[in-house]
Amino acid sequence: MKILVVGSGAREHALVHSLAADPQVDGLFAAPGNPGMASSATLCPLADPTDPVAVTALAREVGADLVVIGPEAPLVAGVANAVRESGIACFGPDAAAAALEGSKSFAKDVMAAAGVPTAAARVCTTVDEVAEALDVLGSPYVVKDDGLAAGKGVVVTDNRMTAMAHAAQCLNRPEEATGRMPTVVVEEYLDGPEVSLFCVTDGTSVVPLAPAQDFKRALDGDEGPNTGGMGAYSPLDWAPTDLVAEVVTRIAEPTVAHMRDRGTPFVGILYVGLALTSRGLRVVEFNARFGDPETQVVLARLRTPLGGLLYAAATGTLAAHPPLRWSTDHAVTVVVAAQGYPEGPRKGDPIDGVDQVNEPAYVLHAGTAQSGEQLVSSGGRVLSVVGVGPDLGAARQVAYAAVDVISVRGSHHRRDIALAAEQGQVWVPLPVRD
Ligand code: AMP
Ligand code: GLY
Repeated sequence: MKILVVGSGAREHALVHSLAADPQVDGLFAAPGNPGMASSATLCPLADPTDPVAVTALAREVGADLVVIGPEAPLVAGVANAVRESGIACFGPDAAAAALEGSKSFAKDVMAAAGVPTAAARVCTTVDEVAEALDVLGSPYVVKDDGLAAGKGVVVTDNRMTAMAHAAQCLNRPEEATGRMPTVVVEEYLDGPEVSLFCVTDGTSVVPLAPAQDFKRALDGDEGPNTGGMGAYSPLDWAPTDLVAEVVTRIAEPTVAHMRDRGTPFVGILYVGLALTSRGLRVVEFNARFGDPETQVVLARLRTPLGGLLYAAATGTLAAHPPLRWSTDHAVTVVVAAQGYPEGPRKGDPIDGVDQVNEPAYVLHAGTAQSGEQLVSSGGRVLSVVGVGPDLGAARQVAYAAVDVISVRGSHHRRDIALAAEQGQVWVPLPVRD
């Protein structure tokens, strides 16, 4: 099977890493990819991964049997539609289904229709509506930009002025390319730890992967601004044992069924971002693709060949796929971010030491580029360093030892990824069902 992976981040590098280990895969291409993938995939230039015509032409040119789309932007732009229309199997939803991620207000409508538990919310298009919503839903205030914002469009604060300022900034933007009116979603605050669960679906069947936890804030102790994610670990020993089954039956299956019923079947990863609150499970967000950096730790533990699984989802044959097999190991990833990330990441800083990292640690590239002989940074999240071990403590040690031999000028990373879980300090509120 020949597979083309679209994207260039650490999530796509993790996908390439796993696909390269699948004996069924005899041709692997990444577009545009990154220097870290070059040893396991053929890198193909692609000026614009959101261009449906260009991606389809490339898929034909390399003879792809399957196209796997990593990031959300090509999905929202309709790349999966075009690839499927050309007769090539595609892992990733059509644009209409990817709106589950592309529009938070659409996602809220789908959750309501499918009976999925989520935070109470109000969709607002004026600052007056926002002011009223903040008063009704109360503090801490949660204000979300409606469109795609790479995890950075959300402000959670107990300062009403900060909440209003963020809303005003989102609403005052010129109308987006889609022609939509600028919109924000104001939400009820959800307490309790967050969990990410990726559900593979062919539009009918749902196969959950292992849950992971992501660290969204830039600084240790969950301080600082929201980012795309600064680290992750899996599995979650502290999570309730019935968590995955509950997410599948109460959230993923009703959502997938609803999407099919409305004529926009969802094929790919339904990323369920959850809060385990004192009132039970609540969906924080849906995404339409693998999460970054959670993918790095989930795939580090998946023993089932990935190519066959994604192909089964893309061709509507997931029900016949054998049960997934998992390593009993734990995995931790630490993101090394550029100076200035997330506000204004600097590019072009030299990266050294990557070659000195050895198994059971490995380095997935995110924002890297080759400048002559020198590897340099080219994005906000530069590297995602993965450590694997028999328990969380060992996996953390392996990951951080590898981080410490790498240098990226001016970079920063969190030192406390998975620390609370290692120390048994993740607090799960006792569910009080409403
Ligand atoms: P989102 O883009 O919707 O995933 O939001 C990004 C992050 O903001 C989440 O991972 C949470 O950490 C936080 N967040 C979003 N919505 C809420 C909420 N209703 N209550 C508390 N925190 C939230
Ligand atoms: N790690 C968060 C995301 O992928 O959206």
